Amino acid sequence: MRPLIAGNWKMNGLTPQLAEIEAIATCVAETPPFADILICPPSTLITRAVQVAAGRIAIGGQDCRKEIAGAFTGGISAEMLRDAGASTVIVGHSECRQHYGETNALVAAKAKAAMRAGILAIICIGETKSQRQEGKALSACGDQISGSVPEGITSSANAIGYEPLWAIGTGESATHEEIAEVHAHIRQCLVARFGAEGKKVRILYGGSVDPINAREILALPEVGGVLVGGESLKTADFEAIIKAVSAKA
Ligand code: PGA
Repeated sequence: MRPLIAGNWKMNGLTPQLAEIEAIATCVAETPPFADILICPPSTLITRAVQVAAGRIAIGGQDCRKEIAGAFTGGISAEMLRDAGASTVIVGHSECRQHYGETNALVAAKAKAAMRAGILAIICIGETKSQRQEGKALSACGDQISGSVPEGITSSANAIGYEPLWAIGTGESATHEEIAEVHAHIRQCLVARFGAEGKKVRILYGGSVDPINAREILALPEVGGVLVGGESLKTADFEAIIKAVSAKA
């Protein structure tokens, strides 16, 4: 399975940062990586990002509503993301679950909306610090898989993003053992539910991925890529993460 290196810019990025997407696209063109590359800038940049990416890297959205259209001021549908040129949308990021009170059912509906619109979904899950301390990391992630992953998701183009909340933006990534254990559990949950088809979905790790830890994380079993926040805003570091997978393959 070809890994996916995805960058999540969160609420960062103005017109000058399009140059960073152009630089990544140029780097990918010069040294084709053994991975698919995706950058999810803020929605305001998607169309222009698609232009500068020139098909060399994919551009995605960071969230969508479940509805196609309607009276939802400020909302963006999966169809609108596709129309803007996005190939993918992240749904259920822990920041959306925390700040906007998103439930598993809503996340599943958003993932379905992505499929309806013909774009790919990265469905995020992950345990809190206290769930991990109480030995409930696997059950928390299992519950989120059951509730947030809709039927029909079993394509290698779709992905689950495992992002332990305590590792996001903290500089403290999960250990190799923790990552391998949870990824194996996620795979088991997917196979239990979808049979052999459940083996196709990529499982990404996210949470303080950087150029130093990326290579070893990407080499772990069942790690089908990485979801990178802070370091995706630094062109040289994101390029180094992309090169980490090239070197592995
Ligand atoms: P981080 O964020 O790489 O800055 O920890 C990851 C994410 O939130 O997707």
